[in-house]
Parts: sequence; structure tokens; C-alpha cells
Amino acid sequence: MSIEIDILNGDAAWPIAQPLLSAVWGRGAAEKPSWSHVKWAHADLRVLIETPEDGLVCHVGIYFRTITWNGQKAHVGGIGGVCTREDRRGRGYATMAIDAAVHTMRANEAVRFAILFCEPHNVAFYEARKWRAFTGDIYCEQPEGRARFTDLAPYLFDIVRAPTLGIIDLCGLPW
Ligand SMILES: CC(C)(COP(=O)(O)OP(=O)(O)OC[C@H]1O[C@@H](n2cnc3c(N)ncnc32)[C@H](O)[C@@H]1OP(=O)(O)O)[C@@H](O)C(=O)NCCC(=O)NCCS
Repeated sequence: MSIEIDILNGDAAWPIAQPLLSAVWGRGAAEKPSWSHVKWAHADLRVLIETPEDGLVCHVGIYFRTITWNGQKAHVGGIGGVCTREDRRGRGYATMAIDAAVHTMRANEAVRFAILFCEPHNVAFYEARKWRAFTGDIYCEQPEGRARFTDLAPYLFDIVRAPTLGIIDLCGLPW
């Protein structure tokens, strides 16, 4: 079976990604998540995995941002919106798409580390892929102003080196 992995501009690829994201998290989703009030950033790039038989089966959004860690600026990559079509899970698609996202970040020499935010039930998935818990505090922007972000757990991945402690300010909307 052939698969195609594309990395496209985030806004341009939104119409392609949107039906899959809606199926996983939209109104049709089984439960409203606890973080449904959060205003999210839009992905800069999107990894899309498609097969000739099924079309789009997996999506990962990629974000680039200059954040601060303990007040020092650092350029980081983010991933978000990681999802695989429900009936096509367990085939390695998300692993492949995350690898493609990390590869894309590595190609950007300024990126020091990668950040994602996940629900407790997905922690084991990311820990098995060498993402590590960040035990410090995360701040971000929301429409009402700067706020501490506690809705999801931060996990970091070494590109050069990721911190485990301290204060990260995302300097913008979360992803
Ligand atoms: C999590 C998700 C993206 C995985 O997609 P996938 O394409 O099935 O992932 P892969 O095929 O690459 O990896 C599957 C492996 O991860 C494991 N896995 C999947 N979800 C897991 C979880 N929540 N915790 C621990 N392991 C998990 C599977 O058991 C499988 O293990 P195996 O390879 O030993 O059989 C998919 O289940 C999904 O879309 N979930 C809903 C959306 C979501 O929660 N996204 C994460 C947002 S942070």
C-alpha cells in the first residue's frame, strides 16, 4: 500500500485537514473536551498522510514560535492537532507524521526544542516516543490576557536540548 506524506502551508491546507479534525474533536465527537474553551493558534505547517484508498488518514500541525524560558528567548517548534482517522489507527501513521514534523523542525537550525500539550490518556503514547514531561509552569495568551496554561500537560522533545523545569511563556496563543 502506498502512502503520501505532504507538509503544506497551514492555512492553505486547512480545508483538507478540517474534516478529519472535526471528526475527532468537532461537534460530532463523543464528548466535549475540558479544554474546549481555549483559543488555539493556527498551525504554520501541516503534515498530512494520505493513501489512495482512504484519502487523508492522519494530521499533525507544526508551529514555530519564539518563546521565553526563564525570561530568555528561545526559538521552538510545536506540534498539535495530532490525529488519525478512528478506523485507521494502530498502523504507525501518527508516529510517521510526528517524525516528519520533528524532521521539519530539525531543518530549521534555530529550533532548540519541541513542545506539545496532551491529555493524560495520551502521555504514555508520547513518552514511548521520547517526549519528556515539563514540570515547570506554562504561560500563554488568551483573548482575556496573559494566563497560566494548565488545561493540558506539556511534553518537550530535544532538538538541541529541552528544559524540564522553569517558566515557559509561549508568547502567544497555545497549540
Ligand atoms: C493518539 C493517536 C493520534 C495515535 O494514532 P495512530 O496512528 O494510531 O498511532 P500509531 O499507529 O503511530 O501508534 C500506535 C501505537 O501507539 C499506541 N497508542 C495509541 N494511543 C495511545 C495512548 N493514548 N497511550 C498509549 N499508547 C497509545 C497504540 O497502542 C499503538 O501501539 P503499538 O504500536 O505498540 O501497537 C490516535 O489514537 C488519535 O487520533 N487519537 C485521538 C486524538 C488524540 O487524542 N490525539 C492526540 C492529541 S495530543
